[in-house]
Amino acid sequence: MIDKIKEHYESRELYGYIIEKLKNKGVDLHNVRTEDLKGIDEFHICGSSISHKMTDLIDFLGLRILDLGCGLGGASRLLYSKFECEVVGVDLSSEYIRTAQKLNSLLGIKNGISFVEADVMDLDFADSSFDIVWTQHLQMNIKDKENLFRNIKRILKPNSRLLYFDVFQREDSVLNYPLPWASSSDHSFMISPCGLHEILSNIGFRSIYKSDESQNAIKAIGSVLKYYENNTPDLGQHILMGDNFKSKLKNLLLHLVNADLLVEAAVYEL
Ligand SMILES: C[S@@+](CC[C@H](N)C(=O)[O-])C[C@H]1O[C@@H](n2cnc3c(N)ncnc32)[C@H](O)[C@@H]1O
Repeated sequence: MIDKIKEHYESRELYGYIIEKLKNKGVDLHNVRTEDLKGIDEFHICGSSISHKMTDLIDFLGLRILDLGCGLGGASRLLYSKFECEVVGVDLSSEYIRTAQKLNSLLGIKNGISFVEADVMDLDFADSSFDIVWTQHLQMNIKDKENLFRNIKRILKPNSRLLYFDVFQREDSVLNYPLPWASSSDHSFMISPCGLHEILSNIGFRSIYKSDESQNAIKAIGSVLKYYENNTPDLGQHILMGDNFKSKLKNLLLHLVNADLLVEAAVYEL
């Protein structure tokens, strides 16, 4: 199953491709800014706008943060640059981790962020070693959610926070694949918001914030699909989603409009 997830996310060699595209756009490679990577370095619905919204929810200043399923590390870099916090990003994909590390160098980030290739089900961090766990669009690929969140609790300090931004499935609905996080149902493990809330509550997490982001998601995906009708941006999530990216986005949009899927941002505390 892990192999299927890796296969779903692994694509072409990414860093060289990104550099070529930046050169074509006339970006000075000695002076690359985060904005130049917009569109590709955050691989979730609503891109950096939802990450900015999440960073306004609690105080991150100087804290130690774990970004689970960090992808190319866009959100890790946002947290680091906004709050001077220490960030550790973990991802299963060696290509994503390698690219995240190289993008840090390209942006001149030397300290403060480390990216680690690992399975989030097998985390090797000490007990009580992080102040915050941040995760976006990861748990849809995790079958054993209870174990995932028990592990997260273990590595979080007392009085710490968990933030997620994820896609959920309404009970009794049936999904068409491919979707952005899974090519087929055998590596997609959907749960309802209530189902996840029950798991988190049983483990000892208390909900302090919830926001249904489904309408924002519909608007964002709708405008992305409209844009792609006549344009292909140099850098965009299509590069990460592969040739069938339009089918993935269309399925996602249809299921959101039908309310088979919901998108939620949340903060829990221990
Ligand atoms: C949709 S992407 C989101 C990436 C990033 N959080 C972002 O929003 O830009 C999901 C990520 O989860 C990672 N992932 C899935 N299952 C994982 C696992 N068991 N352990 C670590 N990473 C995993 C994938 O490799 C992929 O990078």
